[in-house]
Amino acid sequence: MSSFARRVIRYQHRHGRHDLPWQRRRTPYRVWVSEIMLQQTQVATVIPYFQRFMRVFPSVKRLAEAPLDAVLACWSGLGYYARARHLHQAARIIRSSGGRLPRTVEDWVRLPGVGRSTAGAIVSLALDQPAPMLDGNARRVIARHQGLPATLNASLWRVAEQLLPGRDADLYTQGLMDLGAQCCKAHAPDCAHCPLNEDCDYASHGSSQKPDRKRSQLPRRTAWVVIVQTENGEVLLRRRQARGIWGGLWSLPEHPSRSAAQTWARACGDNLEWHEEPSLTHRLSHLELCLRPLRVRIRNADRRGFQGDGRWFDPKQLTVGVATPIMKLIGRDSRPEK
Ligand code: ADE
Repeated sequence: MSSFARRVIRYQHRHGRHDLPWQRRRTPYRVWVSEIMLQQTQVATVIPYFQRFMRVFPSVKRLAEAPLDAVLACWSGLGYYARARHLHQAARIIRSSGGRLPRTVEDWVRLPGVGRSTAGAIVSLALDQPAPMLDGNARRVIARHQGLPATLNASLWRVAEQLLPGRDADLYTQGLMDLGAQCCKAHAPDCAHCPLNEDCDYASHGSSQKPDRKRSQLPRRTAWVVIVQTENGEVLLRRRQARGIWGGLWSLPEHPSRSAAQTWARACGDNLEWHEEPSLTHRLSHLELCLRPLRVRIRNADRRGFQGDGRWFDPKQLTVGVATPIMKLIGRDSRPEK
């Protein structure tokens, strides 16, 4: 075993994380779901979502049987909803091919939503088989140690493969993630306490690379959303198209301008009571979305004029997926309840 791998494993033993929910009762299904949730989301945020997801969908069979709406409802607030759609799609593929989860990296990457790094993480963490993994943390640790730019993909994968230990693949892979999260941090790394410092290029020379650039200004888009609310508090939601922002989630009726929103609402009912509410800005990966809400209160009897292709929901009892800013607008906290 390389001295690099030995030091990573020792670090994981002594200082790594051992009590995360997906590390208890470790099964390929639990590790797969956790790795998908962790792709773009921090551990602390993922934990309550993971726990609820496992209560609702304790097996791949139960996940495959569930309607997509129920899966998106459980994912609401976690963001990057394509992950949930792919997870559900993958569960159905697994069901249709006999119900057994893949056991190799090649088979895992055939499933939607599973890239090479996620497959490597699942195979090493759940099956303890050596497989390279290169998530953001591991990429930074290896790139710094080797003095390679973090963007040099092919070289980093080659090195990641060469550094793998023949055994303790689970501890090693978790150790790389833990080192990256706790010690070899993106900003202000703690090289003095790092087990890799004696032969690390970064620790000995400092970074020759420029510090991470601040995220550049994102393009902005404004959308006018109408919160049609009945006397008993129900709101009108519509299902969004499968593709694009918040694909498959339910959202408020949306219009490109205030006048378009008002024209739509007037066509649905007379003598409406309007309130323009404070705008809400939400940052997506590629876009800053400015939501301008108009609240329209109607009598229960006037619901039919508005219905169209939508459905009425009690915001306190949602059974479909709704994105975080829409949850806020309709007065709901998007985090899972304890
Ligand atoms: N990020 C991605 N996978 C992780 C894991 N298994 N533990 C902690 N952070 C992670």
